[in-house]
Amino acid sequence: MIAGSSVESSWRTVLRETRKAPLSLYFHDYRPETEDLLKAVIRGLAQEPKRLHPKFFYDEAGSKIFEAICEQPEYYLPRVEQRIYADNAEEIAAHLGRHRPLIEPGAGNGVKVRFLLDRMAPSLYAPMDISAAHLKASAARLACDYPNIPIHAVCVDHTGEYELPDEIPTKERIFFYPGSSLGNFSPAEAIHFLSDLRDKAGDDGLLLIGIDTKKDSDVLDRAYNDAAGATAAFNLNLLERIRNQLDTDLDPARFEHHAFYNRELGRVEMHLRCVRGHALRVNGQSFHFESGETIHTENSYKYSPDEFLILAKAAGWEGEALWLDADRQFSVHLLRSD
Ligand code: AVJ
Repeated sequence: MIAGSSVESSWRTVLRETRKAPLSLYFHDYRPETEDLLKAVIRGLAQEPKRLHPKFFYDEAGSKIFEAICEQPEYYLPRVEQRIYADNAEEIAAHLGRHRPLIEPGAGNGVKVRFLLDRMAPSLYAPMDISAAHLKASAARLACDYPNIPIHAVCVDHTGEYELPDEIPTKERIFFYPGSSLGNFSPAEAIHFLSDLRDKAGDDGLLLIGIDTKKDSDVLDRAYNDAAGATAAFNLNLLERIRNQLDTDLDPARFEHHAFYNRELGRVEMHLRCVRGHALRVNGQSFHFESGETIHTENSYKYSPDEFLILAKAAGWEGEALWLDADRQFSVHLLRSD
């Protein structure tokens, strides 16, 4: 089912008549996998301070836990962002125009994009995600709900170097990058990533991007320390993944979730803190944790609208429009290639 549909036109007619249009769903698998995890763990635990890249959160279990985070009352980001899209849907769609290719790096569960699919009749939609299982499931759901929009699912690490499939027209591309996912990059990396999107978008390209704003540190601390423990489970799942996928005696029970807003650097930091000294091996290599030592697992940078526009400009984008909620908790920028 997840493959280039090669149904003959006569069959298309029959299927259309029985109201079961053939799914126009394509799966492009560019995926580098466990090798990367092993390399990253060996390299990350040898560093001082120890660190791991947040992209490794999103195995199948991690992607599910992330959805649970999005349901937590303290994690305001997705709700406020959705609210901005709901309140401004027609205006946003009018800016984007119709029948253009729509590309979403790190598409996740494919829910946010629906307000665009409902309004802009894109010539195709290309969700990109690092988790194959998650991507297949969400692409299949979208293909069923939007039978007239060809879906090109691209399984790739969008934080790395990649080329988009040839099937995606190069003209008038629109990139959609919601969820403040950009916050995971350092400002320098963010400029690099945005420049790459600028190159891929071409001279008539647009980027609709959701960015979490700077705000009261209590609100941020609570958002990354929800009472139900979803964020803690998300962070700790990284250790479960390492234990399940690699040859190691790592003991996840010795670690706890630690998250806080670092005001000087304008970012929320997540760490896994070792509560009891731990000597371990990964693939035969030895590592040691002092009690209290952490693995830095994520940064979530927050940008005021002005700060973000400076970053965007440095990457070759011009601000075209900006939407905020009434409390300025979250921002949605529309950028045009410069
Ligand atoms: C998906 C990167 C935007 O940084 O807020 C949520 C991930 N980490 N809770 C964020 C996350 C902890 C999230 N992003």
